Amino acid sequence: MVNPHLHKLIAREFGEDFQWGVAMAAVQNEGAWNSYGKGPSIWDAFSRRQGKIKGGGRPTVACDFYHRYKDDILLVKALGFSVFRFSLSWARILPEGMGRVNKEGIAFYHRVIDECLKLGLTPYVTLYHWDMPVTLEKEGGWTSHFMLKWFTRFATVCAEEYGDKVKNWIVLNEPFGFTSLGYMLGRHAPGRVGLSNFLPAIHHAALAQAEGGRILRQLVPNAHIGTTFSCSEVLPFTNNPEDIQAAKRMDILMNRLFIEPALGRGYPREDFKFLEKLELHNRSWKYTERMSFNFDFIGIQNYFPIVVRFNPLIPIVQASEVKAAARGVPHTAMGWEINPDSFYRILKKFWLYGGVKEIIISESGAAFRDEVVNGAVDDQSRIDYYQQYLLALLRAKKEGVNIKGYFAWTLMDNFEWAEGYKARFGLIHVDFDSQLRTIKNSGYWFRDFLNGKK
Ligand code: NOJ
Repeated sequence: MVNPHLHKLIAREFGEDFQWGVAMAAVQNEGAWNSYGKGPSIWDAFSRRQGKIKGGGRPTVACDFYHRYKDDILLVKALGFSVFRFSLSWARILPEGMGRVNKEGIAFYHRVIDECLKLGLTPYVTLYHWDMPVTLEKEGGWTSHFMLKWFTRFATVCAEEYGDKVKNWIVLNEPFGFTSLGYMLGRHAPGRVGLSNFLPAIHHAALAQAEGGRILRQLVPNAHIGTTFSCSEVLPFTNNPEDIQAAKRMDILMNRLFIEPALGRGYPREDFKFLEKLELHNRSWKYTERMSFNFDFIGIQNYFPIVVRFNPLIPIVQASEVKAAARGVPHTAMGWEINPDSFYRILKKFWLYGGVKEIIISESGAAFRDEVVNGAVDDQSRIDYYQQYLLALLRAKKEGVNIKGYFAWTLMDNFEWAEGYKARFGLIHVDFDSQLRTIKNSGYWFRDFLNGKK
């Protein structure tokens, strides 16, 4: 493990053109869920279902970013960042998913973008960060082939509307995340389960990923286009061949399923029954071309490595995770292993794919049990986390991995999906009763670190 104290981190070492940002997403921050013409999203519906969200929290108000965006963007600037990544709510722009455009929704994102530009912040805009309009889910959502048509409409409206001002675009946020949790395991919206949902959802996401890229390329002059992938180093619990095979299957699923189609290789061609089903189901060979797009960058989102052992009872992968706590290794409040060396290896691994031109760490961060004491949040664990992960990044960068930016997840504590409001990932603490923001020590740490650049 890297010891941050042995190496004083200096922002300048990452390069003058390195982009430092913070990331957030519409559902998690905006609130105003049914105001100003917005239609309901699958997260509005899902969070109403009993027992789906820890603590029963819903994204109705969240951080009230819709009303407080000016102050919040000012905080991004004050902490020394130069990039602000946020997502566009599909249901705010097209309340029924297709058809009618909501002028107030369109105007809201113009205000957000203009605020960034006024302060000299570069906006990175995510098209899809998990909040599909409910009307589309009723028609099948990601399981439907019509998704291509719906997504084309959404991407076209956004590109035409904001393309003059926004040059940096992210098509999908973690396609493996939303298809597996939302369409296989039912833990995220829309709460569907089973292969009959998962397989078509994967395929339509892989197609939309590339199609979105093509639309942006066509409509936005000088666009810098990417898409993001969740990824995790997967290690076998023992050297037993069954565990090794289990780890291999998990690796295909978690790390290769979406990047390989994007790079023009089709789905990973390995000895794994699940992939055969995917091909059969979708007759994917004829789609290989349509699933590929020449992305300018890929966004890497690596939160933890996982260790697995063979478990024949688990569908598809026949593997189950041996949690960090059970292995006695350092972990965050989410139970996710803290392992900067593994982050370094993931960066090397993704760079080794031929065809990746540039990597941006489009999210990186950790949840800890933060508390406000005398008006301050002493989150030393998060500072240590960032220092170690940044050192690991620097090491990979110095060894030739073309990493162009690092975006902390996230600006402020927010609605953490099925975890509700208990998991706090922010550099800024939010009191959800009063909406009071308190900059955590990690926020101040970033400010000082980034100021050192000048
Ligand atoms: C990835 C997701 O993109 C983001 O929305 C989420 O909050 C973080 N991971 C932390 O779980």
